Amino acid sequence: MINACIVGCGAISPLHINSIEKSENAKLYAVCDINPQKLEKFRDKDLICYDNYDDVLNDNNIGSVHICTPHYLHYEMIIKALEKGKKVVCEKPVTMTDEEYKILLTHPHQSEVCVVLQNRLNPCTQKIKDIVENETYGKVLGLKAVVTWQRDKAYYQSEPWRGIKKTEGGGALINQFVHTLDYFPYLISDIKSVRAKTANFSLEGVIEVEDTVCAYLTLSSGVTGIFLVTNAHVANTPPEFEIVFENATLRYADNCLSTGGVILERDEIETGKKAYWGLSHAKLISNFYDKNIYFCPKDIKNTMDAMFSIYKSADNNGKEILL
Ligand SMILES: NC(=O)c1ccc[n+]([C@@H]2O[C@H](COP(=O)([O-])OP(=O)(O)OC[C@H]3O[C@@H](n4cnc5c(N)ncnc54)[C@H](O)[C@@H]3O)[C@@H](O)[C@H]2O)c1
Repeated sequence: MINACIVGCGAISPLHINSIEKSENAKLYAVCDINPQKLEKFRDKDLICYDNYDDVLNDNNIGSVHICTPHYLHYEMIIKALEKGKKVVCEKPVTMTDEEYKILLTHPHQSEVCVVLQNRLNPCTQKIKDIVENETYGKVLGLKAVVTWQRDKAYYQSEPWRGIKKTEGGGALINQFVHTLDYFPYLISDIKSVRAKTANFSLEGVIEVEDTVCAYLTLSSGVTGIFLVTNAHVANTPPEFEIVFENATLRYADNCLSTGGVILERDEIETGKKAYWGLSHAKLISNFYDKNIYFCPKDIKNTMDAMFSIYKSADNNGKEILL
């Protein structure tokens, strides 16, 4: 049994806690947060509460850490945990900068880090992957992804690291829609070039990062991708994709995958405010502890490269960036 510690007891932490509780080979042993209020709800439980990450690292009973902290801390926390021989589950983005990511890839133990891109495991994602790999409808010609969510002033002001380049690394792309970008290489093939523009339409003066990204992607084998994502909407509408094959078009909308009006698969969704996070954390974390199946930093290289290239292109007025 592996004793796990949650590091960062904020919004995403309950999904990690519930997932650890469901896995067979891990047990929630400790929690860590620098904010004492975040630890309050754990104090009457049979858990060790740490307010300092170094104490977590020095606790030899802890076998794994779940890094659920702000983006700017991920890289340093991963490296320190690996040095202490601990297993790591890290929330996306696995690193905040391209430089950190490149160094992480050279780390001798990078393959021991499980990165959280849980939407890869959604039933509809798996169904699309199957259809693409088996060429059920012929070859893929193009993929369109459109996601319109809402992140308002209150969201950004609820935690001090949000909306700031130095601590979040970017906005809508690095935080919310890296999951969407990940579908392109995960489902179809590597992204080879990007042209992108970003904007802050709805929160000027509130955040210094983008709320909207528009990108044109070229994938290997000539497939093109349209990527339109924004946090400037008034609701969190489920993601919408259209995948054009030689012989059919697949649509994913309202959490259902269909073609020609026939539903092929459905994603179960949690009810409530955070339904858009999906239900696949539990599967990802159980796969890691119980089956030793997971994605490590090297397995998401094209997604990370594409994400940093989109920012580079946007900084250069939409210039094409080759990956
Ligand atoms: N996979 C997903 O779908 C998904 C969804 C939401 C958030 N996330 C990711 O989860 C991470 C956390 O996001 P969140 O929304 O829970 O943030 P949050 O701000 O709600 O929580 C972060 C917590 O980390 C704590 N913290 C800060 N510095 C710390 C330190 N040095 N040591 C220990 N704790 C520290 C803060 O006090 C806070 O409680 C981010 O990387 C985010 O991108 C992923």
